[in-house]
Amino acid sequence: MKKTISVSQIKQAVNEAYDLYKNNQDGKNADYIPYLANIDKNLFGISVCLLDGQIIEVGDTQYKFGIESVSKVHTAILVLRQYGAEKLLSMIGADATGLPFNSIIAILLENDHPSTPLVNAGAITACSMVQPVGNPKEKWAAIVKNITELSGSAPELIDELYRSESATNFNNRSITWLLKNYNRIYDDPDLSLDLYTRQCSLGITAEQLSVCGATIANKGVNPKNGARVFDASLSPQITSLIATVGFYEHTGDWLFTSGIPAKTGVGGGVMGVLPGIMGIAAFAPPIDAAGNSVKAQLAIKHIMNKLDLSVF
Ligand code: DON
Repeated sequence: MKKTISVSQIKQAVNEAYDLYKNNQDGKNADYIPYLANIDKNLFGISVCLLDGQIIEVGDTQYKFGIESVSKVHTAILVLRQYGAEKLLSMIGADATGLPFNSIIAILLENDHPSTPLVNAGAITACSMVQPVGNPKEKWAAIVKNITELSGSAPELIDELYRSESATNFNNRSITWLLKNYNRIYDDPDLSLDLYTRQCSLGITAEQLSVCGATIANKGVNPKNGARVFDASLSPQITSLIATVGFYEHTGDWLFTSGIPAKTGVGGGVMGVLPGIMGIAAFAPPIDAAGNSVKAQLAIKHIMNKLDLSVF
């Protein structure tokens, strides 16, 4: 898909979205992870990265927030890089669950299957698959390196978030051991869950996420530094995973109203991929009942509709 759109049109739409929603008070910070409950709820930033590397941004785009579930995309890409598409499909799956991100029942309904690397179950399975299996130190290094390559600069662990999340992740512990029971954890279960929790606790900026979205939109070449991160042949699989389940049980509503494959996180970030055009990210901590940032959704929808950019 190619569409000619001027930088000034994008700038105008981005600034308009920021002004329209900066005072919106809907939603509330995630409170099941104590660290997230205390983040300034008025933070708000929007960043667009074009495929020539230009960045168009407004607001708190340099603030490092918890990447949370957006990291599921990054690690799915790492697993695709290490194993290829067929193995990802057979060992995890590429299907929507139609259920919340932390659903246990989804595993049972899908014949003991994690369904997709973009829900908690599949993301923990993905962490178990990261190579070298059995070596947590090197697995973690591979996860961080992959995110660094995708976004052009390194993420930083938010230690307090990691501790906060590790102390309260009882549901994820249940998911991990249920998956182990069904032979869907391919490394030590506790170690795999710890890697998942740690990757969710990485601090990332809206600007970094927009670069990552642009790398995916650019078929694997990071537009900021020209480096190839993943093989172009993986590009349709990556975007299809995001399109299928990026907003969990609200993915259809999201695609219907925004027209862009995107992935959310309870830290307040949303990363969108517009193939052949741009990556976009927005960040604002208050989330809706399904765990998706209220203002980030509004902002991205406004920009997409204003510029008439729907992938459909
Ligand atoms: O596992 C969890 O519950 C969190 N670390 C991530 C959840 C999340 O971001 C869901 N997405 N909106």
